[in-house]
Amino acid sequence: MELIEPSTEYKDSFIEAVKEFQADNDYTNRNRRYRNLSIPKLENDFGSFVAEVGSHAEGKNLQEGYVPETEYWFVDNGEFIGRTSIRHRLNDKLTYIGGHIGYDIRPTKRGKGYGNKIFELALRKGKELGLTRVLITSDARNIASRKIIEKNGGVFENKVVNHEKGFEGFDALRYWIDIK
Ligand SMILES: CC(C)(COP(=O)(O)OP(=O)(O)OC[C@H]1O[C@@H](n2cnc3c(N)ncnc32)[C@H](O)[C@@H]1OP(=O)(O)O)[C@@H](O)C(=O)NCCC(=O)NCCS
Repeated sequence: MELIEPSTEYKDSFIEAVKEFQADNDYTNRNRRYRNLSIPKLENDFGSFVAEVGSHAEGKNLQEGYVPETEYWFVDNGEFIGRTSIRHRLNDKLTYIGGHIGYDIRPTKRGKGYGNKIFELALRKGKELGLTRVLITSDARNIASRKIIEKNGGVFENKVVNHEKGFEGFDALRYWIDIK
């Protein structure tokens, strides 16, 4: 079980995972990255997709308002299980909700301890990227995510109201973690 740089080696299980995200309408999947990817495009040219994801760390090909971020894929037994992205810095939007680290476990692999593991490994990657104190936010309804953050040393700062599409009016919890 490890975090790796995005790689064409995981094409098949990655595409399976995207299909799972697209079929799962749980609120936690709303606005999730990869929800809107085109399966035929991935099938035809996975290499370009992997290269584009990798370029975000250099501040290239970013969506409007995004900061440079490094993405890692969480793999186990040769299979794509989830992903994490580590933002190199915060902007106003991320400071309010979003924080430094985002993570997902593909729907069919949840509830097996992978969420705790990916987050623990993501904190280590954050340290390698030079971060010493990270902001993590979670929808207040997301019990699994809250448990993961709290287990990994998250210190609760406050609760704010989400204004993002699909989450309007729901609370988000903001936590800080000192990376040792
Ligand atoms: C949040 C998420 C990463 C959790 O992944 P996971 O692999 O299911 O997590 P784990 O199996 O490691 O479980 C973590 C904890 O949550 C608990 N848990 C898992 N699913 C749960 C559920 N549906 N309800 C309540 N608790 C739950 C587990 O018992 C575990 O608690 P413990 O550490 O006290 O034993 C996953 O649900 C996900 O990808 N969600 C969508 C994206 C998201 O919300 N990302 C986080 C915010 S950026």
